[in-house]
Amino acid sequence: MPIPTPHIRAKEGDFAKTVLMPGDPLRAKYIAETYLENPVLVTDVRNMLGFTGTYKGKRVSVMGGGMGMPSIGIYSHELFNFYGVENIIRIGSAGSISESCPVRSVVIAQAACTNSSWAKQYEIPGTYAPIANYGLLSSAVEIAKKQGTPTVVGNVLSSDPFYCDLKDPHSAWIKMGVLCVEMEAAALYMEAARSKKNALAILTISDNIITGEELSSDERQTGFGKMMELALELA
Ligand code: ADE
Repeated sequence: MPIPTPHIRAKEGDFAKTVLMPGDPLRAKYIAETYLENPVLVTDVRNMLGFTGTYKGKRVSVMGGGMGMPSIGIYSHELFNFYGVENIIRIGSAGSISESCPVRSVVIAQAACTNSSWAKQYEIPGTYAPIANYGLLSSAVEIAKKQGTPTVVGNVLSSDPFYCDLKDPHSAWIKMGVLCVEMEAAALYMEAARSKKNALAILTISDNIITGEELSSDERQTGFGKMMELALELA
């Protein structure tokens, strides 16, 4: 497919090899303006803003990925396959379903289960296990240790529905040791695998699905800062 692609209007070379991907495009703008030197807007189709700048002298891009698997699937597919992007690091929030992940904790998604039918397109004669790139994962763990940020590494659930009609949507995942629920990592990991590229999701626990506890918006910002420092160093 020639560029620009249907959902990203950028030129060849506009994106860095590594893209940080929050869900919210305005968060991408905030990250670019707060943490990057000389950020330049490189795409704004549907207001899904993407910027490229430098962090400690290294080129880095940051772009919104939207909510849910179809959305992050579109943007990661186009970035990996048509814009020369090698690494996408999702930075987002998740709801905890595990005592090992209190609100504010930072989760590194080693793997992502899903209730979506995303993998059907690959016609795999079995169940595919979407996993993070090991290089990104192990570097993230090392960097977090150096920064003094405790992390929990493990399996997450990428859920299609946020509002779910099932009576008990979480018990079976809890039994299998899944840590938290978010909505994008599984599709990102599958897009990366299919494109022979690299992906990692780093998540801040913003709420506890079992107890109903939630972070205030100020507290969200603090937790988000730690995750950002980790993701930027990793980039
Ligand atoms: N992201 C943050 N909290 C979430 C939740 N409870 N469910 C799905 N995604 C989330």
